[in-house]
Amino acid sequence: MPNLPIFTPFELEYYQSQFEHKVEYNLADSSVKCVSTREWLSEDEIEALLDTGLFYPEVNGTRQLRERIAVLYPNANPDQVLVTVGASQANSLVCSTLLAAGDEVIVMTPGYRQVWGLAHNAGCVVKELPLRQDRGWRVDLEALDVLINRQTKLVAIVNPNNPTGSVLTEEEMGRIVAACAKVGSWLHVDEVYNGTERSERAETPTFWGRYDKVIVTNSVSKAYGLSGLRIGWAISSEVMIDAMWRRHEYGVIAAAAPSMTLAAIALQPEKRRCLLARQKHISFTGRQVFEKWLTEQNGIFEVQPSEATCIAFVRYHLPIRSFDFAERIRKEASVLVAPGSALGAEYHLRITLGYEPEKIRASLDRIGAVAAKIVLNY
Ligand SMILES: Cc1ncc(COP(=O)(O)O)c(C=O)c1O
Repeated sequence: MPNLPIFTPFELEYYQSQFEHKVEYNLADSSVKCVSTREWLSEDEIEALLDTGLFYPEVNGTRQLRERIAVLYPNANPDQVLVTVGASQANSLVCSTLLAAGDEVIVMTPGYRQVWGLAHNAGCVVKELPLRQDRGWRVDLEALDVLINRQTKLVAIVNPNNPTGSVLTEEEMGRIVAACAKVGSWLHVDEVYNGTERSERAETPTFWGRYDKVIVTNSVSKAYGLSGLRIGWAISSEVMIDAMWRRHEYGVIAAAAPSMTLAAIALQPEKRRCLLARQKHISFTGRQVFEKWLTEQNGIFEVQPSEATCIAFVRYHLPIRSFDFAERIRKEASVLVAPGSALGAEYHLRITLGYEPEKIRASLDRIGAVAAKIVLNY
């Protein structure tokens, strides 16, 4: 091994990338079944795709796509938008633009540990803001008041949250903004699950426009079922977007031109409505299968009802660590699920419910069978 600097790998993504194409059923990701290109494009849209030039596109994102992103946010303009390679790159740019060794960073736990890991790798002091399971995964705002101080460079939250599916209330949003404003820290809000709310709920309000030092990131991966396009974005003040754009040039130059054409089509109002409805329908049917299965498990598994996402973040009552449990499920049942430890919560599994009902049922039955073997042996 060459002499490389100390590095914390992205445990969740590493686990997925090793095995997701090697199992019969992959329920470790956090999207719904994605759309195939043929499925959602009209003849005209296919022509638009075929007409896309394959030269370097606008580095900060095509004007058309940035305009369609900007209209999703009150009073935003396209120069406040940077198009990135997924929300992952947008989140990574937030960290590379803002963070230096020794900075304090606050992240939500349990959570998608991208900023957590990037901040560790940048030599920051990372503090964890708990979502409280005993309070239905509400954020612990008293803890935030204790953690935050003038050394806090960045508060990074994910709303709606992965993996818990909880959505902040207006009051909680206001208190988070007020806490950041009091110490002058940046606020990064990853809103990739915006639009995945249960159908009876309204779309989650954005943090955009609530604070001058906010950076919102998002993508077409989750709510639109288009993760293969690898298109995301950041929206912030023009000064901040310019600074991120300078880092974007070093990292990738630009997102892919055909993907930007397709993302611009996806964000047209009618197309957007259809893609969101498709995603919600898939999650709804998957959740119904899951809820029935749950009643048949003799109390081994339990879940807090989520407000958004296609994910079940399942607490289990078995004497086995989540990584070992996920490994047994993978090896004995050829089903991939994400261990809670990779999201900051032991004795949990993260299972996506966004696939065909038969696939969900078959996978859950296999998980139940592995759990039953563990019960027999202790
Ligand atoms: C909270 C969160 N942010 C970002 C990402 C990455 O999304 P993208 O596919 O847009 O890069 C994920 C993927 O699981 C996620 O859960």
